[in-house]
Amino acid sequence: MNEQIFESFPVLNTQRLLLRQMTQEDDRCLFEVLSDEATCRYLTHNAVNDIAVIQRMIFGMQRFFEEKQRIRWGIAPRQDNSIIGHCGYFDIDNSNSCAEISYCLKSGSWGQGIMTEALDEMLRFGFEDYGLNRIVAKVMKDNAGSVKVLKKLGFVQEGLLRESLYKNGQYHDLMIFSILKSEYHRTDPN
Ligand SMILES: CC(C)(COP(=O)(O)OP(=O)(O)OC[C@H]1O[C@@H](n2cnc3c(N)ncnc32)[C@H](O)[C@@H]1OP(=O)(O)O)[C@@H](O)C(=O)NCCC(=O)NCCS
Repeated sequence: MNEQIFESFPVLNTQRLLLRQMTQEDDRCLFEVLSDEATCRYLTHNAVNDIAVIQRMIFGMQRFFEEKQRIRWGIAPRQDNSIIGHCGYFDIDNSNSCAEISYCLKSGSWGQGIMTEALDEMLRFGFEDYGLNRIVAKVMKDNAGSVKVLKKLGFVQEGLLRESLYKNGQYHDLMIFSILKSEYHRTDPN
């Protein structure tokens, strides 16, 4: 694993998107994304109703990066730089070159291939620059959009983690997907 990637935040570019570090100046945009019930339906947390929570979240993301524990990019259209979603690596296991991903896009931007484009570049970075060998994603069973994005990128389902997420008074099954470095091919070269 290449720990040098933590020396300065790795900005990533795709055809339409800029993946960059978020700062406190992004609090309103990120609040817009994460205060939407539809967007948070399949996330581990519920919709956020207090911007102070977002400000703490951004602070936490910066801290995790400084501590070389997690990387989370804000997703912005190249032309206007305002945050419309986020994606990143967490649960990074250096000994086994493995990490989990999570991602989220504001509902007004769904269905335009944006997350496929962002994750494709994030996977390239993970395998080629960071040195990961295995990338994992866990998805709530009914999240058809997320499953479609993962399959499009070449992830395969490994199984079902039964009742492994407790949210809103209920246990939920999570589908577990992975992709290996040996399987990765770019879907959207730019
Ligand atoms: C799931 C999510 C990331 C998809 O992002 P997106 O940018 O809309 O996805 P894309 O446009 O790249 O879609 C890729 C494919 O999935 C399909 N798709 C997207 N949303 C879908 C849905 N809700 N149901 C069925 N298919 C869907 C698209 O039509 C596209 O298929 P195609 O290539 O055959 O046309 C986005 O809806 C989201 O952020 N949802 C809320 C948060 C979330 O669920 N995060 C994931 C947690 S595991």
